[in-house]
Amino acid sequence: MPDLQEPSPWILRFLPLVAPGGRALDVAAGAGRHSRLLLAHGLDVAAVDIDPDRQPDAPGLRKLRADLERGDPWSLGTERFDLVVVTNYLHRPILPDIVAAVAPGGLLLYETFALGNERFGRPSNPDFLLHPGELAAAVAGPLDIIAFEELVLGPPRPAAIQHIAARRPAEGPAMDVAGSRQDPRR
Ligand SMILES: C[S@@+](CC[C@H](N)C(=O)[O-])C[C@H]1O[C@@H](n2cnc3c(N)ncnc32)[C@H](O)[C@@H]1O
Repeated sequence: MPDLQEPSPWILRFLPLVAPGGRALDVAAGAGRHSRLLLAHGLDVAAVDIDPDRQPDAPGLRKLRADLERGDPWSLGTERFDLVVVTNYLHRPILPDIVAAVAPGGLLLYETFALGNERFGRPSNPDFLLHPGELAAAVAGPLDIIAFEELVLGPPRPAAIQHIAARRPAEGPAMDVAGSRQDPRR
């Protein structure tokens, strides 16, 4: 698949929810169409890819070389981000690590291909295609879903996709067993 240059409309739509000045992670960043957008939004960007040199150096950009499919522990360890972006990439075993990389109050924007895309071309390997509802199921619990869609895009690039915007609740007062907020003065 040739590198796309223009940002995804889904990423453009939800990026304003993230305040400039924070830290973003672009997973499988490719040639950097979203890394550039996030930098322009005023975020520091960690761009991880097996071949990170496909995007040029830029102030605020940290290029990280990692094979995300080697079965090693998540290469970014315990680092947490105000925004995590994943587009056109799926490696199921790291979905929990991607969710874990979202900081309290932070946002996950994820868009990739779904089953049915094989009608249109690549990717057609089911390993790279989401099952119905899979993105929503992967984030539900730790993250609150803001928007989720599964749809078929028309020309000029027909594709079956899912996309999601989800936020990790900000850290607040601890909850007691009944689910009500504990009075911090007690
Ligand atoms: C279809 S491109 C998507 C690029 C970018 N996210 C975008 O939407 O423009 C998939 C990216 O996944 C990266 N990739 C593939 N296998 C990888 C692996 N095992 N570890 C890290 N990155 C990988 C490729 O280098 C490529 O940049």
